[in-house]
Amino acid sequence: MAKKFYATTAIDYVNGHPHLGHAYEKVMTDVLVRSRRAEGKDTYYLTGLDEHGQKVQQAARDAGMDPQAYCDDLATAWTDFTRRLQLSNDDFIRTSEKRHKEVVQAILDKLNREGHFYTAEYKGYYSARQETFLTDRDRNESGEFDEIYGDVVELSETNYYFRLGCHQQWLIDYIEANPDFIYPDYRRNEVLGFLRNNELEDLCITRPASRLNWGIPLPFDPDYVTYVWFDALTNYISAPASHGDPLICDTLGLSREGLPGLELWPADHHVIGKDIIKFHSVYWPIMLKAMGLPLPKQIIAHGWWQKEGRKISKTTGNIVDPVAVIEEWGLDAFRFYCIRELDLGPDGNWTDSGFESRYSGELANGLGNLVNRSLSMLKRYRQSVVPPVQGDLEEEATAVIDQTRAHYENLKFQSAVQSIWSLVTRVNQYIDQTAPFKLAKDPEQSGRLGEILYNTVESVRIIAVLLQPLLPDTAGKIADQLAIGGKLPILGELRWGQLPEGHVTGSPSPLFPRRDLMN
Ligand code: ME8
Ligand code: MG
Repeated sequence: MAKKFYATTAIDYVNGHPHLGHAYEKVMTDVLVRSRRAEGKDTYYLTGLDEHGQKVQQAARDAGMDPQAYCDDLATAWTDFTRRLQLSNDDFIRTSEKRHKEVVQAILDKLNREGHFYTAEYKGYYSARQETFLTDRDRNESGEFDEIYGDVVELSETNYYFRLGCHQQWLIDYIEANPDFIYPDYRRNEVLGFLRNNELEDLCITRPASRLNWGIPLPFDPDYVTYVWFDALTNYISAPASHGDPLICDTLGLSREGLPGLELWPADHHVIGKDIIKFHSVYWPIMLKAMGLPLPKQIIAHGWWQKEGRKISKTTGNIVDPVAVIEEWGLDAFRFYCIRELDLGPDGNWTDSGFESRYSGELANGLGNLVNRSLSMLKRYRQSVVPPVQGDLEEEATAVIDQTRAHYENLKFQSAVQSIWSLVTRVNQYIDQTAPFKLAKDPEQSGRLGEILYNTVESVRIIAVLLQPLLPDTAGKIADQLAIGGKLPILGELRWGQLPEGHVTGSPSPLFPRRDLMN
């Protein structure tokens, strides 16, 4: 079996319902994975839920529920959400699953045996909300701890610690030698700056069960549960281990008898938000090194969304509810706006007016109109029979194919959209300029009319193929209207002229109903 292309997202805390930030990350990763699949690669997409720890225990308590029952309830909403977004994920991991807990415990046992842990007493400040220890250095200018920490209490307790310091120079050298390890480069520079200017403190990897019991018990000391981040990061290898990934199972001494033996590790990309870079590019690499596993090839950190220029917040009601947007505008309008509006890396700003203007401009009047008039004209003037191959737009379409593929390859998904839309705009102009509806009135122009019709429908086919990673539903609908469903080539084999003369297309139907015509 050959290694699959393997991409993951952050696993979301199951202490509420999915919001725009969650949806964006999952859609972005879906576009990434589908773009690799569109190139013919064998892909594997993992997403899931982070169910342990203080935040979830507290949310369950507030809801008056047992934590497992609370997670089971919400997990249904989250898995429904993956279908709503048409994510092409191959697995969905929940950290309360047995398959995950077993791997976490095997790792803890191994690292403990090999001397990576020690116990020590800690006296100091603790934020339950962020589940983190604080020092006076974390106070702001006015001497307070930031409100994101909630109530900060002083406490004294003994815990297990993971030695990190001895790996610090190795990690710096690794990131320097592998410039693609953290993307985009300004995030890599932040991580390097942090590592060069601070001495890494050892990581506290337990919480006393007396204080927090909603976690994975430490296999060698029942008085403790595992710190939620140590538990959560492990999902990226516990899911492959549960499918018998040979590298992971053999390194950790796990049986792979009877398992399919999927080769996934090392991951090609971990897609995460900018707020959790330190966990992924400092703690996780060191955990893997200590385990004896190779590092993921790339950590991709996306930016954060605001709404109308302000922080997204449930308390102030400044939110975007992805489900409501999808119900009102359709899934692909949502996917389109996410990718078109925000490049992978910087922060973004959702505005309702921007959304509506992209919907009507780029989707309804741009793509929707192009597909509709191309197929309508072919139907009206040629009974939907494709005329002989002709190449007025061949050169431009070929350039767009090449550009779009390169943008997908380079994680430039916003540019991929722009490149595809440059062809949408070009073909719409071509129709306006060549005016087939006028030529149709003159029998002597019949040959020229056929040429124009070929160029428009063949361009529509190429656009549909290029769109598959971004707007899978729309790409499928266009393919159906062209009556070529199930026969879309991989991107490397996409060429002008593959729509054969004599092929009979189906009937057009609107892809993005105009808003004034909806309801
Ligand atoms: O951090 N814009 O979970 P989480 C863009 N369980 N992305 C956003 C966002 C916003 N406004 N708000 C959140 C966790 N995100 C951990 C991860 S991984 C082993 C454990 C992103 O539910 C955020 O950056 O708080 C993160 O990547 C993801 O949503 C889940 O956030
Ligand atoms: Mg968060």
